Amino acid sequence: MPVVDIKNVLVCDAVDSACVDLLKSNGINVEYKLKLPKEELCKIIGNYDAAIVRSDTKITEEVLEAGAKGNLKAVGRAGAGVDNIDVNAASKQNVIVLNTPGGNSISACELTCLLIGSLARPIVPAGQSMKEGKWDRKLYSGSELYGKTLAVLGLGRIGREVGIRMKTWGMRVIGFDPITTEAEAKAAGIEKMSLEEIWPLADYITVHTPLIPATRNLISTETLGKCKKGVKVVNVARGGIIDEAAVITALESGQCGGAAFDVFPEEPPKSEVTKALIAHPKVVATPHLGASTAEAQVRVAVEVAEQFIALTGKSKEFT
Ligand code: NAD
Ligand code: MLT
Repeated sequence: MPVVDIKNVLVCDAVDSACVDLLKSNGINVEYKLKLPKEELCKIIGNYDAAIVRSDTKITEEVLEAGAKGNLKAVGRAGAGVDNIDVNAASKQNVIVLNTPGGNSISACELTCLLIGSLARPIVPAGQSMKEGKWDRKLYSGSELYGKTLAVLGLGRIGREVGIRMKTWGMRVIGFDPITTEAEAKAAGIEKMSLEEIWPLADYITVHTPLIPATRNLISTETLGKCKKGVKVVNVARGGIIDEAAVITALESGQCGGAAFDVFPEEPPKSEVTKALIAHPKVVATPHLGASTAEAQVRVAVEVAEQFIALTGKSKEFT
């Protein structure tokens, strides 16, 4: 790997302080400047050799051009996806893009499992009703996960971890992935099959793919129509993999029995469709919390710092 001269790093989002401590202890200057408007970011980014983001700051073509006119040589994402970084524009500007793909997988997996549970048992509305002074036992009856079929679409790091855990709850876990082999799926307790075989079998569907043209609206009016009546869907991957308008219609008709969303096409959500989805009584929504645990944030912070230190050609020193 070529040695890259990184002396000054700009941290644009709320990355754990473990990242700053590690960079500083390796002689790299770090400045935190959160929630910078795009114009301000463009003005100053060229003063730094590298920038670190989570998902809030958008590293667009304009930002990269401005940075590359100055010193910018690398951008690091303390997280898995690099959706908020224009990777093509970065290549054009010879700016290296780094990410930390595995650091938050367990946290994202655990949130997924909790959301599946919250669709089986109406914990969220029942808890809210108690805060309102009510005691409605009949209203909040649920169903067991035991014996039900969970379909996992995307059998990568997170999808497989979800399969392993939900299998121990007595669910049959089936799944689809164009790359993961049958043997790899089986090792996680997942029966690999085609999407057409999956739709009529699933009681729950959880998506764990990147958002790419092939996965946009993977769950749609058409595919929901092929499912059992009352199928429940979960998206802790990326907004847009499940068509939100299709889910609202299916919730109204009963074709969909409940839905949980951690991610949205636009964050924070502004569209009327997303707002209607979040407000729906059969929907559990969380504000992109998949990676929001103490453990995951330390892990991704350390991993991104280690990668920058490796770029400089030094071996890391811990304080
Ligand atoms: P991964 O790369 O390990 O796995 C993704 C899998 O999707 C791969 O195995 C790939 O072959 C598969 N895939 C690609 N196209 C597919 C298709 N058309 N149909 C089915 N499968 C397909 O990724 P990961 O680390 O498991 O992350 C999964 C998703 O979760 C990503 O979108 C990531 O950005 C997101 N994520 C969200 C949070 C959060 O906070 N909510 C946290 C971490 C990751
Ligand atoms: C990721 O891609 O790692 C997640 O979406 C989590 C995050 O943005 O913090």
